[in-house]
Amino acid sequence: MPAAPATPSTPADAAARATTGPASVAATPAPRPTRRQVLMGTGAAVAGACVLAACAEERPTPQGEAQALGALAPGTRVVALADVPVGGAVSAQLDGHRVLVTRPAEDEVHLFSALCTHAGCRVVPADGALDCPCHGSRFALGDATVLVGPAVDPLPEIAVRVEGADVVLAG
Ligand code: FES
Repeated sequence: MPAAPATPSTPADAAARATTGPASVAATPAPRPTRRQVLMGTGAAVAGACVLAACAEERPTPQGEAQALGALAPGTRVVALADVPVGGAVSAQLDGHRVLVTRPAEDEVHLFSALCTHAGCRVVPADGALDCPCHGSRFALGDATVLVGPAVDPLPEIAVRVEGADVVLAG
């Protein structure tokens, strides 16, 4: 005599299998994260938020740059005067800050923060002016007033003087 089938074969049994099989799989609870995983995930999220907040808080502004540069020691060398073309300007770094040294005339030099007053892009020397490549603002060599917007404020100026062959901070 053959052995009874291992699985029931009535339509009711088949229906029960159809509903209980997959349902029992779906009802199996997903593995719960451990306390450690939860804490690590929370820590990462908090760390990410802090990084973003820090970025927002520490974003340099032209005024902040000018203030930091103004606090440097008088006599700090910026560039060699000979490196600044008459009727032009050069980009430079001063104590980690990006600056522009302009020379609108033979005996006239100026130092400006290179951070655009519109949205903080780096302003660069251009043909007889200072240009921001981000949105097209243009500033004058002599006083960094706005020649073309969208910027509305001039670049902040830091006082300098010529000492020997160099342009130095006036203090
Ligand atoms: Fe300079 Fe917009 S950031 S024009």
